[in-house]
Amino acid sequence: MIYTDSYAYMPDLDTPRLRLRKLTMHDAADIYRYSRDVEVARHVLWEAHRSIGDSRAYLRYMLRRYRNHEPASWGIEYRETGAIIGTIGYMWIQWDNSAAEIGYSLSRDYWNRGIMTEALRAVIAHGFGSMNLNHIEAQHELTNPASGAVMRKCGMQKEGTLRSRLFNKGRYVDVDLYAILRKDYTAKSNGRG
Ligand SMILES: CC(C)(COP(=O)(O)OP(=O)(O)OC[C@H]1O[C@@H](n2cnc3c(N)ncnc32)[C@H](O)[C@@H]1OP(=O)(O)O)[C@@H](O)C(=O)NCCC(=O)NCCS
Repeated sequence: MIYTDSYAYMPDLDTPRLRLRKLTMHDAADIYRYSRDVEVARHVLWEAHRSIGDSRAYLRYMLRRYRNHEPASWGIEYRETGAIIGTIGYMWIQWDNSAAEIGYSLSRDYWNRGIMTEALRAVIAHGFGSMNLNHIEAQHELTNPASGAVMRKCGMQKEGTLRSRLFNKGRYVDVDLYAILRKDYTAKSNGRG
Protein backbone atom coordinates (compact mmCIF):
# COMPACT_ATOMS: atom_id res chain seq x y z
CA MET A 1 0.00 0.00 0.00
CA ILE A 2 1.37 3.44 -0.92
CA TYR A 3 -0.09 6.44 0.85
CA THR A 4 -0.14 9.39 -1.50
CA ASP A 5 -1.08 11.83 1.24
CA SER A 6 1.33 11.91 4.17
CA TYR A 7 -1.51 13.05 6.43
CA ALA A 8 -2.98 9.59 5.96
CA TYR A 9 -0.10 8.01 7.86
CA MET A 10 0.94 10.94 10.00
CA PRO A 11 -2.20 12.60 11.35
CA ASP A 12 -2.00 14.51 14.64
CA LEU A 13 -2.08 12.06 17.55
CA ASP A 14 -3.29 13.29 20.94
CA THR A 15 -2.43 11.72 24.29
CA PRO A 16 -3.20 13.04 27.79
CA ARG A 17 -0.10 15.29 27.93
CA LEU A 18 1.09 15.40 24.33
CA ARG A 19 0.14 16.24 20.80
CA LEU A 20 2.18 14.52 18.10
CA ARG A 21 2.04 16.81 15.11
CA LYS A 22 4.03 17.64 12.03
CA LEU A 23 6.88 20.05 12.54
CA THR A 24 6.97 23.49 10.92
CA MET A 25 9.75 26.05 10.46
CA HIS A 26 8.30 27.91 13.49
CA ASP A 27 9.61 25.09 15.71
CA ALA A 28 13.28 25.92 15.12
CA ALA A 29 13.88 27.65 18.48
CA ASP A 30 12.24 24.79 20.42
CA ILE A 31 14.20 22.15 18.51
CA TYR A 32 17.45 24.05 19.06
CA ARG A 33 16.77 24.44 22.80
CA TYR A 34 17.18 20.70 23.42
CA SER A 35 19.06 19.46 20.33
CA ARG A 36 22.12 21.49 21.32
CA ASP A 37 22.47 19.18 24.35
CA VAL A 38 25.21 16.59 23.76
CA GLU A 39 23.51 14.26 26.24
CA VAL A 40 20.37 14.19 24.07
CA ALA A 41 22.46 13.54 20.95
CA ARG A 42 24.77 10.95 22.53
CA HIS A 43 22.83 7.84 21.49
CA VAL A 44 21.20 9.06 18.30
CA LEU A 45 22.69 9.26 14.82
CA TRP A 46 22.66 13.05 14.58
CA GLU A 47 25.18 15.49 16.04
CA ALA A 48 24.19 18.03 18.71
CA HIS A 49 23.09 21.22 16.94
CA ARG A 50 25.76 23.94 17.01
CA SER A 51 23.45 26.77 15.98
CA ILE A 52 19.80 27.41 15.24
CA GLY A 53 20.85 27.07 11.60
CA ASP A 54 21.37 23.34 12.23
CA SER A 55 17.83 23.15 13.63
CA ARG A 56 16.44 24.97 10.60
CA ALA A 57 18.31 22.60 8.29
CA TYR A 58 16.80 19.64 10.17
CA LEU A 59 13.32 21.16 9.80
CA ARG A 60 13.80 21.78 6.08
CA TYR A 61 14.85 18.14 5.71
CA MET A 62 11.77 16.96 7.63
CA LEU A 63 9.40 19.19 5.66
CA ARG A 64 10.85 17.81 2.44
CA ARG A 65 10.15 14.29 3.71
CA TYR A 66 6.52 15.23 4.51
CA ARG A 67 6.13 16.71 1.03
CA ASN A 68 7.58 13.61 -0.64
CA HIS A 69 5.51 11.23 1.54
CA GLU A 70 8.68 9.68 2.91
CA PRO A 71 9.03 8.18 6.41
CA ALA A 72 9.33 11.11 8.81
CA SER A 73 8.96 12.23 12.44
CA TRP A 74 6.25 13.97 14.36
CA GLY A 75 7.13 16.79 16.69
CA ILE A 76 6.20 16.02 20.31
CA GLU A 77 4.29 19.04 21.59
CA TYR A 78 3.83 19.38 25.34
CA ARG A 79 0.21 20.44 25.41
CA GLU A 80 0.43 22.48 28.59
CA THR A 81 2.93 24.90 27.06
CA GLY A 82 2.65 24.26 23.32
CA ALA A 83 6.44 23.73 23.13
CA ILE A 84 8.06 21.07 20.97
CA ILE A 85 10.08 18.92 23.39
CA GLY A 86 11.13 16.03 21.16
CA THR A 87 10.44 14.00 18.06
CA ILE A 88 9.25 10.50 17.29
CA GLY A 89 8.75 8.86 13.94
CA TYR A 90 9.65 6.34 11.30
CA MET A 91 13.22 5.52 10.31
CA TRP A 92 11.79 3.43 7.48
CA ILE A 93 8.51 1.86 6.41
CA GLN A 94 8.30 -1.26 4.26
CA TRP A 95 4.77 -1.40 2.92
CA ASP A 96 5.42 -4.80 1.29
CA ASN A 97 6.20 -6.33 4.68
CA SER A 98 3.84 -4.08 6.67
CA ALA A 99 6.86 -3.26 8.82
CA ALA A 100 8.42 -0.09 10.19
CA GLU A 101 11.17 1.09 12.53
CA ILE A 102 10.57 3.87 15.03
CA GLY A 103 13.11 6.27 16.53
CA TYR A 104 12.73 9.11 19.02
CA SER A 105 14.45 11.75 21.13
CA LEU A 106 13.36 13.99 23.99
CA SER A 107 14.58 17.12 25.71
CA ARG A 108 16.57 16.27 28.87
CA ASP A 109 14.28 18.51 30.96
CA TYR A 110 11.49 15.97 30.40
CA TRP A 111 13.30 12.66 30.94
CA ASN A 112 11.93 10.06 33.34
CA ARG A 113 8.37 11.35 33.44
CA GLY A 114 6.89 8.69 31.18
CA ILE A 115 6.70 11.09 28.23
CA MET A 116 8.33 8.90 25.58
CA THR A 117 6.37 5.87 26.76
CA GLU A 118 3.18 7.90 26.23
CA ALA A 119 4.34 9.00 22.77
CA LEU A 120 5.52 5.56 21.63
CA ARG A 121 2.27 3.92 22.77
CA ALA A 122 0.33 6.37 20.60
CA VAL A 123 2.55 5.71 17.58
CA ILE A 124 2.26 1.93 18.03
CA ALA A 125 -1.55 2.15 18.35
CA HIS A 126 -1.70 4.21 15.17
CA GLY A 127 0.71 1.83 13.40
CA PHE A 128 -1.45 -1.21 14.12
CA GLY A 129 -4.60 0.85 13.60
CA SER A 130 -4.99 2.97 10.52
CA MET A 131 -1.56 2.09 9.09
CA ASN A 132 -2.33 -1.61 9.33
CA LEU A 133 1.26 -2.57 10.11
CA ASN A 134 2.19 -6.07 11.21
CA HIS A 135 5.66 -5.49 12.70
CA ILE A 136 7.06 -2.44 14.47
CA GLU A 137 10.66 -2.38 15.64
CA ALA A 138 13.06 -0.07 17.41
CA GLN A 139 16.68 -0.31 18.47
CA HIS A 140 18.84 1.28 21.10
CA GLU A 141 22.50 1.31 21.99
CA LEU A 142 23.36 -1.03 24.84
CA THR A 143 24.70 1.98 26.72
CA ASN A 144 21.25 3.63 26.59
CA PRO A 145 19.13 1.36 28.82
CA ALA A 146 16.40 3.99 29.43
CA SER A 147 15.37 3.60 25.79
CA GLY A 148 15.06 -0.19 26.23
CA ALA A 149 12.86 0.45 29.28
CA VAL A 150 10.55 2.61 27.13
CA MET A 151 10.29 -0.16 24.51
CA ARG A 152 9.46 -2.82 27.11
CA LYS A 153 6.86 -0.60 28.77
CA CYS A 154 5.19 -0.31 25.36
CA GLY A 155 4.98 -4.10 24.97
CA MET A 156 7.98 -4.55 22.68
CA GLN A 157 10.09 -7.66 23.09
CA LYS A 158 13.82 -7.98 22.68
CA GLU A 159 14.70 -9.80 19.47
CA GLY A 160 18.43 -9.87 20.09
CA THR A 161 21.66 -7.94 20.28
CA LEU A 162 23.18 -6.78 17.01
CA ARG A 163 26.93 -6.46 17.38
CA SER A 164 28.63 -3.36 15.97
CA ARG A 165 25.39 -2.64 14.10
CA LEU A 166 25.76 1.15 13.94
CA PHE A 167 28.61 3.55 13.41
CA ASN A 168 27.88 6.40 15.80
CA LYS A 169 30.14 9.34 16.51
CA GLY A 170 33.33 7.64 15.50
CA ARG A 171 32.79 4.10 16.76
CA TYR A 172 30.83 0.94 16.05
CA VAL A 173 28.19 0.31 18.69
CA ASP A 174 26.17 -2.73 19.73
CA VAL A 175 22.40 -2.32 19.77
CA ASP A 176 19.44 -4.24 21.17
CA LEU A 177 16.67 -4.74 18.64
CA TYR A 178 13.09 -4.77 19.96
CA ALA A 179 9.84 -5.50 18.13
CA ILE A 180 6.12 -5.78 18.68
CA LEU A 181 3.89 -7.74 16.32
CA ARG A 182 0.26 -7.07 15.55
CA LYS A 183 -0.67 -10.38 17.22
CA ASP A 184 1.17 -9.40 20.45
CA TYR A 185 -0.59 -6.06 20.43
CA THR A 186 -4.03 -7.57 19.77
CA ALA A 187 -3.54 -10.13 22.53
CA LYS A 188 -2.61 -7.35 24.98
CA SER A 189 -5.53 -5.16 23.88
CA ASN A 190 -7.87 -8.11 24.53
CA GLY A 191 -6.48 -8.41 28.04
CA ARG A 192 -4.82 -11.73 27.33
CA GLY A 193 -1.26 -10.39 27.17
C1 LIG B 1 15.59 7.43 26.00
C2 LIG B 1 14.50 8.48 26.18
C3 LIG B 1 13.69 8.56 24.92
C4 LIG B 1 13.58 8.08 27.32
O1 LIG B 1 12.47 8.95 27.36
P1 LIG B 1 11.69 9.20 28.72
O2 LIG B 1 10.47 10.00 28.45
O3 LIG B 1 12.62 9.69 29.75
O4 LIG B 1 11.23 7.71 29.08
P2 LIG B 1 10.18 7.24 30.17
O5 LIG B 1 10.15 8.24 31.30
O6 LIG B 1 8.92 6.93 29.46
O7 LIG B 1 10.84 5.89 30.66
C5 LIG B 1 12.21 5.85 31.02
C6 LIG B 1 12.49 4.59 31.77
O8 LIG B 1 13.91 4.36 31.75
C7 LIG B 1 14.34 4.13 33.07
N1 LIG B 1 15.72 4.60 33.15
C8 LIG B 1 16.18 5.87 33.16
N2 LIG B 1 17.52 5.87 33.22
C9 LIG B 1 17.91 4.57 33.24
C10 LIG B 1 19.16 3.92 33.31
N3 LIG B 1 20.31 4.61 33.36
N4 LIG B 1 19.17 2.57 33.34
C11 LIG B 1 18.03 1.85 33.27
N5 LIG B 1 16.80 2.41 33.21
C12 LIG B 1 16.76 3.76 33.20
C13 LIG B 1 13.39 4.92 33.92
O9 LIG B 1 13.40 4.46 35.25
C14 LIG B 1 12.07 4.63 33.21
O10 LIG B 1 11.59 3.33 33.51
P3 LIG B 1 10.44 3.09 34.65
O11 LIG B 1 9.25 3.90 34.24
O12 LIG B 1 10.21 1.61 34.58
O13 LIG B 1 11.02 3.57 35.93
C15 LIG B 1 15.10 9.86 26.51
O14 LIG B 1 15.95 9.71 27.59
C16 LIG B 1 15.85 10.51 25.35
O15 LIG B 1 15.27 11.09 24.46
N6 LIG B 1 17.18 10.39 25.34
C17 LIG B 1 18.00 11.04 24.31
C18 LIG B 1 17.76 10.53 22.90
C19 LIG B 1 17.74 9.04 22.83
O16 LIG B 1 18.54 8.39 23.47
N7 LIG B 1 16.81 8.51 22.04
C20 LIG B 1 16.65 7.09 21.90
C21 LIG B 1 17.59 6.52 20.91
S1 LIG B 1 17.36 4.77 20.80
